[in-house]
Amino acid sequence: MAEPEIPEEIWTIRYRRYGGPDQCGLEYVKTPRPGRGEVLVATEAVSVNPVDWRLARGEFRVATGLRPNRVPGCDFAGTVLACGEGVKRVKAGDRVFGMISALSSGTYAQCITVPESLAIPIPDDLDMYGAASLPLTSLTAFQSLFVHGRIAPGAHVLVNGAAGGVGVCAVQLARIGRARVTAVAGPKNRELCLELGASNYIDYTESFALKRGVHEYDLILDAVDTLNPSEAFDALTPSGALISLNPRPSRLFSSLLNRTKRRRHHVEIVRPDGPQLARIAEHVSGGRIRPVIADVLPITEFAEAWRRSMNGHVAGKLVLDATTGF
Ligand SMILES: NC(=O)c1ccc[n+]([C@@H]2O[C@H](COP(=O)([O-])OP(=O)(O)OC[C@H]3O[C@@H](n4cnc5c(N)ncnc54)[C@H](OP(=O)(O)O)[C@@H]3O)[C@@H](O)[C@H]2O)c1
Repeated sequence: MAEPEIPEEIWTIRYRRYGGPDQCGLEYVKTPRPGRGEVLVATEAVSVNPVDWRLARGEFRVATGLRPNRVPGCDFAGTVLACGEGVKRVKAGDRVFGMISALSSGTYAQCITVPESLAIPIPDDLDMYGAASLPLTSLTAFQSLFVHGRIAPGAHVLVNGAAGGVGVCAVQLARIGRARVTAVAGPKNRELCLELGASNYIDYTESFALKRGVHEYDLILDAVDTLNPSEAFDALTPSGALISLNPRPSRLFSSLLNRTKRRRHHVEIVRPDGPQLARIAEHVSGGRIRPVIADVLPITEFAEAWRRSMNGHVAGKLVLDATTGF
């Protein structure tokens, strides 16, 4: 097979001021070279995660500084164009996907360099859109359920926000872990939740309230951050865990406070993890996890995709096709 061509210059989306999509502009830069242990990937699809626009709005200035100079995006799927010294596992022409830290230079670019350890081969039966839709959300769900939540077979898991990007992965992964899942979502997503493997469904627009004093859950994953932690602990078994996904100061404080009371309250901050993503990819190959894609837009329409994501009712993931270019 002919070596893929490496462009001299690539497009990137970048913001140098906080605000949102309006502050993002197109910039052309020299194609980065992969360093030792890195690969250069031509991105073909990226996905929209709320953290992309939350960082751009300046919600995490403590971490991103007063003067941003950032390319958004954490998830990528694409083809390896070149390998740096010492790369052994992948080669030019391979299809790879993965997640990079939200605080590193992002994936909304024609080409990116990533450590080889984070570029995971895409299963043959998964297309680029499906691949781009999975990394950050499936890793968040995996780490919440199995690393911090430590669920065991037979556990009863409540997923609040089960139709969102994280939720659809959490429902499927919890089922793989042989847990029983109660999914909380709006009425139009009932079928989706049951089809993904939830055994119970609660419509939050009707009468969703945790039953006080009924300690029925071993883990509550509060993806949408609408639950009151003390009510959640009233619904958890004595050794049960509450996982919150919003690292806002009051949540971090309540998690610290709960820990002083020997309650397992963890505020998740997802980490890129190649081996965990490779395990998730095996489940995709085995048909146990399927991507849920709400829509695919050309990357030129990322601002529209962000606006839809900001509305908070996307079922599954919005994916951006990066092959359309600018
Ligand atoms: N800390 C971390 O490491 C980490 C990692 C990933 C995500 N997050 C955060 O976690 C949150 C969820 O992420 P995501 O990717 O899943 O977001 P998302 O895909 O945008 O979530 C949208 C979903 O939320 C559901 N929803 C909205 N209001 C709800 C409510 N009151 N009760 C139950 N479900 C509701 C919607 O379902 P309906 O249409 O049925 O209402 C929709 O399907 C975001 O704030 C994100 O920033 C944090």
